[in-house]
Amino acid sequence: MKTLFNFTTAAAALLFASAAHSQAPAPLKVGFMLPATGTFASLGNNIESGFKLFVQEQGGKLGGREIQYFKVDDESDPSKATDNVNKLIKRDQVDVLVGTVHSGVALAMAKAAKESNTLLIVPNAGADAITGPMCGPNIVRSSFSNWQPGYSTGVVMAQKGYKRAMTITWNYAAGNETVKGFAEAFEKGGGKVMKDLTLPFPNVEFQALLTEIAAQKPDAVFAFFAGGGAVKFVKDYAAAGLNKSIPLYGSGFLTDGTLEAQGSAAQGIFTTLHYADNLDTPRNNAFRKSYALTYKANADVYAVQGYDAAQILAAGLNAVKGDFSKRDAMTTAMRKVVVDSPRGKFTISPAGNPVQDMFLRQATGNYNEFRSVAVKALADPARGCKL
Ligand code: BEZ
Repeated sequence: MKTLFNFTTAAAALLFASAAHSQAPAPLKVGFMLPATGTFASLGNNIESGFKLFVQEQGGKLGGREIQYFKVDDESDPSKATDNVNKLIKRDQVDVLVGTVHSGVALAMAKAAKESNTLLIVPNAGADAITGPMCGPNIVRSSFSNWQPGYSTGVVMAQKGYKRAMTITWNYAAGNETVKGFAEAFEKGGGKVMKDLTLPFPNVEFQALLTEIAAQKPDAVFAFFAGGGAVKFVKDYAAAGLNKSIPLYGSGFLTDGTLEAQGSAAQGIFTTLHYADNLDTPRNNAFRKSYALTYKANADVYAVQGYDAAQILAAGLNAVKGDFSKRDAMTTAMRKVVVDSPRGKFTISPAGNPVQDMFLRQATGNYNEFRSVAVKALADPARGCKL
């Protein structure tokens, strides 16, 4: 009798467990395509950490779905981008792509995402075309367009009264578009760009270009570099003694996540960006504390963008209770969300780009400290986006 009872209870438990299992939705597959090597490696790492932190804070689920991660190191190499993104789309059959850092790689990702109708959340790369001519309902960005930080630094430098500026950057989409945004605002404000200096990505042989800056003596220099390249550039600029005579400005990537390595060479540099380390709000303070406790490291703008990429995905999944087949309702919700970001609340434009405050910051110790709002609620012009 006892054996029979044990058998029936065990069978019932098994049936119950398998029924519960068949009802649990399959995990949502998220494919990270980010750099794990090269000059942008730490940027990719912090984006992934930020994304996972938000998911962890939600108990490991978004919209009731477990999240399963897949990963490809894109090496910030556009020539490998199509093959790399297809590893996630075709081999791993991910539901959502999250990537990347480098604008040239992101352009290839956006093309593949459009062709396969895969949802893409861009957690850094600013390539203007992604929320311009390539815009579409299945692409959204949690970061910025290259135009935005370039434009806001142009506003600030014109307001400071500089008349003659030189620019310096890597010759690829992010560098060129950031400089273009800078020139638009700087020249509108009465300044003139004397000369644009470039070198190929990711080269760091700055010496000849620094010699040219010293010879031309502009009122100020505007630079776009990021990651390891930004560390070397800021140090070389100071080592050449230029920081004593020609003020160096940049979009915030010049000093974000890099200050410890740049040391005294970066102190005092003004940049603009959609984040400042010491924004004294409950949201930012809680985020930074949670990030520091989890990763034993300070958060930076890349961590914020990763965190917000997960928040945007959550908004979509919550709207459809995790039912990924309701794509229209989901992507609509991802456009309508007001993201409660550590940077401050922001909305998403119809083209899929954040509409956000741009801050003037100054490098002080290991922090990019808030100084003022450079441009309030700056929206990318989304040139060429037809919806
Ligand atoms: C870009 O390629 O879009 C980019 C890379 C690093 C920082 C910011 C932008």
